[in-house]
Amino acid sequence: MELPYSEPYRIKATEAIRTSTRQEREEWIRQARYNLFKLDSDKVFIDLLTDSGTGSMSDNQWAAIMTGDESYAGASSYRKLETIIRSLFGMPYFLPTHQGRAAENVIFSALLKEGDIVPGNSHFDTTKGHIEFRRCSAPDCTIDEAADTQKELPFKGEMDLEKLEQVFKSHPREKIPCTVLTITNNTAGGQPVSMRNIRQTAELCRRYNIPLLIDSARFAENAYFIKTREQGYADKSIKEIVREIYSYADIMTISAKKDGVVNMGGFTAMRDKELFTKAMSYAIMFEGYITYGGMSGRDMNALAVGLDENTEFEQLDARIRQVKLLADLLDEYGVPYQRPAGGHAIFLDAKKILPAVPREEFIAQTLGIELYIEAGIRGVEIGSILADRDPVTRENRYPALELLRLAIPRRLYTDNHIRVVAAAVRNIYERRDSITSGYEIEFEAPILRHFTVELKKVQR
Ligand code: F0G
Repeated sequence: MELPYSEPYRIKATEAIRTSTRQEREEWIRQARYNLFKLDSDKVFIDLLTDSGTGSMSDNQWAAIMTGDESYAGASSYRKLETIIRSLFGMPYFLPTHQGRAAENVIFSALLKEGDIVPGNSHFDTTKGHIEFRRCSAPDCTIDEAADTQKELPFKGEMDLEKLEQVFKSHPREKIPCTVLTITNNTAGGQPVSMRNIRQTAELCRRYNIPLLIDSARFAENAYFIKTREQGYADKSIKEIVREIYSYADIMTISAKKDGVVNMGGFTAMRDKELFTKAMSYAIMFEGYITYGGMSGRDMNALAVGLDENTEFEQLDARIRQVKLLADLLDEYGVPYQRPAGGHAIFLDAKKILPAVPREEFIAQTLGIELYIEAGIRGVEIGSILADRDPVTRENRYPALELLRLAIPRRLYTDNHIRVVAAAVRNIYERRDSITSGYEIEFEAPILRHFTVELKKVQR
């Protein structure tokens, strides 16, 4: 008999999680104003809000925490991080920051001025927030197929080169300080970008003399998909693939909380010394001195180990198999989600799951609340609450997709947890005809409203 698959690690420490009753959860979510971000974590049974900063570190990472060098300047922990960044990404300069959005803040402070245009393939919300906050615009050049949840494409997160060139042609060069390529494409469902598309995007940028910035939160998962799906890469190591990806980039920002498998951290790195010098001043103002920025020595140590370990095939294989398990179960139950399964998450297609809820009542959020009440599972809305209002007209924006993201933290939950999640989603899908109304907004902040929005049930 062929032996079944099993994970390439064993578990050294466990953390208790508490169960609750449906009645308790109904009360808790009401108290949280129907905003899943406002729930205390002890009221959540399986937390799939994010895969960011929620992974389990390895024994080697914990050991590295103990040997962190907390010197203000020139710490050995900084040097360790520098060594792995240079060898993995080939970028000569970098600035540590406390997380991804801080890296965006530092680099966009150096690059952007009011009225600029920063095209990309579905900018993540903080990236878009940082661009729009500076009164710049962030046109989306993702391929159209990404919006068709039922279409199976191996690289569904790609940049549409024609759309990108159109942006380049319709604005003067000096208005476009950079292009942002996000790998994997989180907003489009954790979908990867092929090496071919990365290379062609870089070539197009070069032709128009526009720097290419790679938003790298899930770069290792993207490399895994290149290895397993793109012709010519099967025999290359993840590290070799990563090295090639970044040979096409001029700048990178990274939230290290994802593929770095640390609880906090990030950085921006670049090839250009002049840009580094400019960004350095912002890093010092916003984050900290250049050899620690927003990170403590122990965090930089853990990140150096995490980046090295999580660019090994076996680690990524275990993780992506677990995400696929959830997809396979949903297939068995006939529940629609963004196909194929993404690298870090499953994105449930809320419009198809709850067809009777009007879009003005926030379909994906309604599904998120149902799932919490059903089983204490917390996902996150990637729909019209997240899409926010148009900065000019202040009208609600209704994106093509209403998704509920179930992000799987790295090495945190077992396959049994995944089976509970799939069963809970199935239960909601089976009673979908009885869910006909959603929620309305009672309070919202002027920017990034989804974190603090307060809702109330629509009564009909
Ligand atoms: N870019 C991408 C593609 C991201 O997914 C995130 C964060 C960021 C940038 C910002 O990084 O949180 O460290 O400041 N994504 C998290 C998520 C929050 O849940 O997907 P950060």
